[in-house]
Amino acid sequence: MNNFKFKNPTELIFGQGMIKELPKRVPAGVPVLVTFGGGSVRHNGVYEAVKEALSGYNMVEFWGIESNPKIETLRRAVALGKEHNCQFVLAVGGGSVIDGSKLIAAAIPYDGDPWDLVLKGYSRDTILPLGTVLTIPATGSEMNSGAVISREETKEKLVFRGNFPVFSVLDPEVTFSLPPYQIACGLADSFVHVMEQYMTTPGQSRLMDRWAESVLLTIIEIAPLIRQKPHDYDLMADFMLSATMALNGFIALGVTQDWATHMIGHEITALTGLTHGHTLAIILPGTLRVQGHDHKRDKMLQYAERVWHITAGSEEERIDEAIRRTEEFFREIGLKTRLEEMHIGTNVTDEVERRFVERGVAYGEALDVDGPMARRILEACQ
Ligand code: NZQ
Ligand code: ZN
Repeated sequence: MNNFKFKNPTELIFGQGMIKELPKRVPAGVPVLVTFGGGSVRHNGVYEAVKEALSGYNMVEFWGIESNPKIETLRRAVALGKEHNCQFVLAVGGGSVIDGSKLIAAAIPYDGDPWDLVLKGYSRDTILPLGTVLTIPATGSEMNSGAVISREETKEKLVFRGNFPVFSVLDPEVTFSLPPYQIACGLADSFVHVMEQYMTTPGQSRLMDRWAESVLLTIIEIAPLIRQKPHDYDLMADFMLSATMALNGFIALGVTQDWATHMIGHEITALTGLTHGHTLAIILPGTLRVQGHDHKRDKMLQYAERVWHITAGSEEERIDEAIRRTEEFFREIGLKTRLEEMHIGTNVTDEVERRFVERGVAYGEALDVDGPMARRILEACQ
């Protein structure tokens, strides 16, 4: 196990009706910038619940943070927050609203262009505190410090290292209004977050391996049940907590990580607009087809046995069967798993390779997913 330092300061406020707790956590007497997405919260009672909980507060509302939040939109939110001298940011929405709000919280006290902070980082001394009310299980943004910010004019989508939320309210009931496609994308995103931290090499930590496997097994078990009963509180509670546990740092203690699937997926979204979780359902099987028999081989055999209960056949056959079952899982939750099915052509592959080469980047636990390797992976996703 590698050396590590670990601290996760986010307080989880979990359960039915917990939006009522907001006044115990949001500071009174200061202007609060409350950020929203495109309006789903107006139809499922979340907006009313937040308004009621914070009646008497000086709420400055910003609406319209889109999926894959754009810097062009966030600049307007930052200007509004500055104009009203906001001292706290409350994000009400999914990963996009929360990610965008992490940048907003850093940029309100900053004098320059918010995009500078994506490129250079932010000042810990001035960043405003952020709280969240999560409405879709997927990204883990409610309990981590990451954010992903897009820039329309250059079709870029880059990671911003922000601050952890001070608290996040997770009420599984608010997920009952989610469309099936968003549920599928959230399940795929959560599954692949675990795989990015697990599917490397075995023998680094028994505890991390079993913790990661427990999240994978839970997602595999609940996914078909959620398709049948999307309004089942206990199922959605397990989904919501699985998504948070998949990317709050707890399963990554002292072990190597991959993240190549995500980095390729971000480029696909930036270039084509395909929803984040869906890109992963396409790229992960491709990554495993290219690397699963290679340096991921031993972990693939462990994954095959412990997650998919595959014990018969040669090593090659077991690995191939685990890849097949992984892809089948994504298809069963309702996602297409090949680029050509989504009409994504080789021009996108060319551009991803070009960008990775131009940036000089290489991802994966072996740092071998550079431009040419990204091409191989994308070709294996056709
Ligand atoms: O905008 P509204 O109207 O609210 O609608 C949203 C949006 O259309 C809708 N929605 C959310 N909650 C709902 C609901 N509809 C009905 N009922 C509800 N309860 O769902 C749509 C998708 O929302 P979005 O926030 O975009 O989804 P998600 O949470 O998947 O976030 C995706 C973004 O997070 C980034 C992704 O790249 C993408 O930009 N990620 C952030 C990460 C992080 N911070 O750690 C890690 C991830 O890997 C990911 O990259
Ligand atoms: Zn993700």
